[in-house]
Amino acid sequence: MRIVITGGSGFIGTNLINYLNKKKFKLLNIDKISYASTHEKFKILRKKRNYSFLKVDICNFNLLEKTLNKFKPSFIINLAANSHVDRSIVSPKDFFNENIVITQNVLEYLRRNKKIKLIHISTDEVYGSTIKKKFKEISILDPSSPYSSSKASCDLLINSYSKTYNLNCCILRPSNNYGPYQFTEKFIPTIITKAQKNLPIPIYGKGENVREWTYVEDTCLAIEKIINNFKKDQIFNVGSGYCKKNIRIARDILKLFLKTKSKISFVRDRAGHDFRYSLDSKKIRSKLNWSPKTTLLDGLIKTIDWYKTNLLWIKYTRKKYQGKRLG
Ligand SMILES: NC(=O)c1ccc[n+]([C@@H]2O[C@H](COP(=O)([O-])OP(=O)(O)OC[C@H]3O[C@@H](n4cnc5c(N)ncnc54)[C@H](O)[C@@H]3O)[C@@H](O)[C@H]2O)c1
Repeated sequence: MRIVITGGSGFIGTNLINYLNKKKFKLLNIDKISYASTHEKFKILRKKRNYSFLKVDICNFNLLEKTLNKFKPSFIINLAANSHVDRSIVSPKDFFNENIVITQNVLEYLRRNKKIKLIHISTDEVYGSTIKKKFKEISILDPSSPYSSSKASCDLLINSYSKTYNLNCCILRPSNNYGPYQFTEKFIPTIITKAQKNLPIPIYGKGENVREWTYVEDTCLAIEKIINNFKKDQIFNVGSGYCKKNIRIARDILKLFLKTKSKISFVRDRAGHDFRYSLDSKKIRSKLNWSPKTTLLDGLIKTIDWYKTNLLWIKYTRKKYQGKRLG
């Protein structure tokens, strides 16, 4: 089976390619390579002949069409997006211009090639914040940030194209992912890399915000389940059920470090900061027999180990980061 992964050089994409490469798939990664991308030399591929990479900006439809016509995929897994909420607050326009155009270009291609199946990676953030309840796939979309509203817009675009042109689309809404290769500006890598250097750990507000943490390999497993059991017009939440306050995650990581001198430092809260995300993931558990394989503790240990042993990756990605720093 021939699969195109858009944004395959990002955090989830890099893990997904390493994961799917162990199976019987022929993979093409198309990515424009942003500051958050992982360079090809860091990919661990067992079957190199089953994988190729092309530098493509998906906002360029002609280039996308030419690339996909040549590869002839049966699946497209759409991960490409600008993904950092803080950046979306500073430059909202970039998020709407890029995230929506990427999705629309992929849909335009599907409109002309109706046999291809799309697995689009959305996010739990499209539902907005909740004090107590868990969001189901049918819950209303109520995004709070420019990032999450651009993602919700993509979901609506897919819905409309699928209805109008009878396309084969499926949407996954994963909760917060963590694991290897996540760019160091995100929450868990920030804590780990600061702790490595004995620097203060910045935490928004009082650290009371709750997130549901899914180990990235469990999201890859969910994607594999969708590939093998594809049904059009389905939406699946993908959440591990491990919900924790940010402050507790930070303290857990510091405890696992043993020797660090880092201390938590509370900083001014993010504008429009969602208080709590929580998914009801019964649908994917019952229909596709998916369940998370990695506990939060094991996932954090694995992630810390990865960052401790991949200092070259940190150095390399940080170098690209110069000039892209926020604030
Ligand atoms: N990381 C999470 O916790 C999480 C949770 C839920 C959903 N998601 C979604 O999963 C997807 C992947 O997330 P991630 O954390 O890997 O993001 P990431 O920022 O690490 O990677 C995104 C990749 O997309 C690429 N890209 C961006 N614009 C592009 C363009 N115009 N053409 C080609 N490539 C382009 C970037 O170069 C980058 O390599 C995103 O759509 C995100 O919204 C992420």
